[in-house]
Amino acid sequence: MKFKTEIKVIDGNPDLSFLLSENKKLFVTDENIFALKSLEKFFKNFSVLNKINSGNTQASLYSNKNNALIVIPAGEKYKTIDTVLAIIKAALAFSLTRKDIFTAIGGGVITDLTAFASSIYKRGAKVEFVSTTLLGMCDAAIGGKTGCDFEDYKNIAGTFFPADRLYVFPEFVKSLSDKEYISGLAEVIKTALLFDKKLFNLLETQKEKVLSRDSEVIYKMISLCVKAKTKIVKKDLTEKKERMLLNLGHTFGHALESRAGLGVLTHGECVAWGTCRALDLSQKLGLCSYDYFERVKKVSASYGYETDVVHKAFTDSKAILETMKNDKKNSSSKIRVILQRGLCKNIITEIEDEKILEALI
Ligand code: GLY
Repeated sequence: MKFKTEIKVIDGNPDLSFLLSENKKLFVTDENIFALKSLEKFFKNFSVLNKINSGNTQASLYSNKNNALIVIPAGEKYKTIDTVLAIIKAALAFSLTRKDIFTAIGGGVITDLTAFASSIYKRGAKVEFVSTTLLGMCDAAIGGKTGCDFEDYKNIAGTFFPADRLYVFPEFVKSLSDKEYISGLAEVIKTALLFDKKLFNLLETQKEKVLSRDSEVIYKMISLCVKAKTKIVKKDLTEKKERMLLNLGHTFGHALESRAGLGVLTHGECVAWGTCRALDLSQKLGLCSYDYFERVKKVSASYGYETDVVHKAFTDSKAILETMKNDKKNSSSKIRVILQRGLCKNIITEIEDEKILEALI
C-alpha cells in the first residue's frame, strides 16, 4: 500500500463550500466543530433529517441534496465501534457506493473514525479530511492510520487507509482552547527534534508568535510539519522502520498518560515529558551531550511543559516501567525506544529495564 494523499495547506479563513458536491458525499463532524462560528455558513447548507442510534452513540443526521452530514458527540469517549457503525448507518441511509466520498471535518478522533468507517464500508470507499486541530494537521491526519478504541485499549481496532485528500487550514488552530493548542505543540517539538533544524530554531526563537498563534508563524510551522511527516510516511507507511521514529517520547509518554488515568493529562503534556525522558536516557547512555538534553528541556519548559522526571502525575519508576513493557510497539522482551545523538540524529533501539529505570529517577 502506498501513501497517496494529496495535501493542500490553505491560508486564510476556512471556507469549506467547495467541498459540497453534486455527487453523493457523507460529511462527518462532531458537536464542537458543528458549533464553530467560522463554519456556521457552511453547516447552514444542511437541514435536519433524523437521529441515528448506535449502541452508546446518539448522532444527528442532516442532508443537503446529495450530501449528508452526521454530527457525533465530541471526545475520545466516543471513539468507539458504536460510532464507526453510526457512520456506516448514515452511509447506508444515503445509499453511498464505494465510489462515493466520506469527508471528515475535525480533529484526530473524527478523522480516525471516519477513515476507519470508510475503509470497511463495502470493503473500502473514499475518504478526505479537513483537519481542524494542530495535532491533526501536524500528525494524526497524515499517514493513513485509522481506528477506534476498545475497552481500555487506544486505537486497538483499525486499518491503514490513507485519505485521498487532506485540506489543512492553519487558521483553524485559532479556535482551539489553549490546552488543546499546547497539547498539539508537543508533536511539533517532536517533529522539529527528529527532522527539522529550521523548525526547532523557529520554536526556540519565536515563542511569543507561536503562543499568540501569529498567522504567518503558524502557517510556516504547520507547513514544515506536514512536509516532514509526509516524507516519513511515504518511505514507510506501515511502520516497519523509519515511521517508528515518530514515537519519540511516546513510550515514556503513553506510560505516564495511562498511569495518570486516561484523560487526566493531555497527550501533548505526556509526549513532551516523555521526550525529555528519552533524551535524559540518551545522555546517560553517552549518546548525546548533556547540553543538548538541557537545550531541549529549556524549549519544552518555555511552552509550559513539565520537563523534570518528578511529574505531578508520576506514580513511581517501577510502575511506569511496567506500563512501558506492555506497549503494543515492543517486539521483544526489551523496550523499544527512540533515542538521539543530537538534533535530527535519531536512533531506534531496544533497551534493558535497568537502563530505562536510570532515566526515571
Ligand atoms: N502518530 C504517529 C504516526 O502517525 O505514526
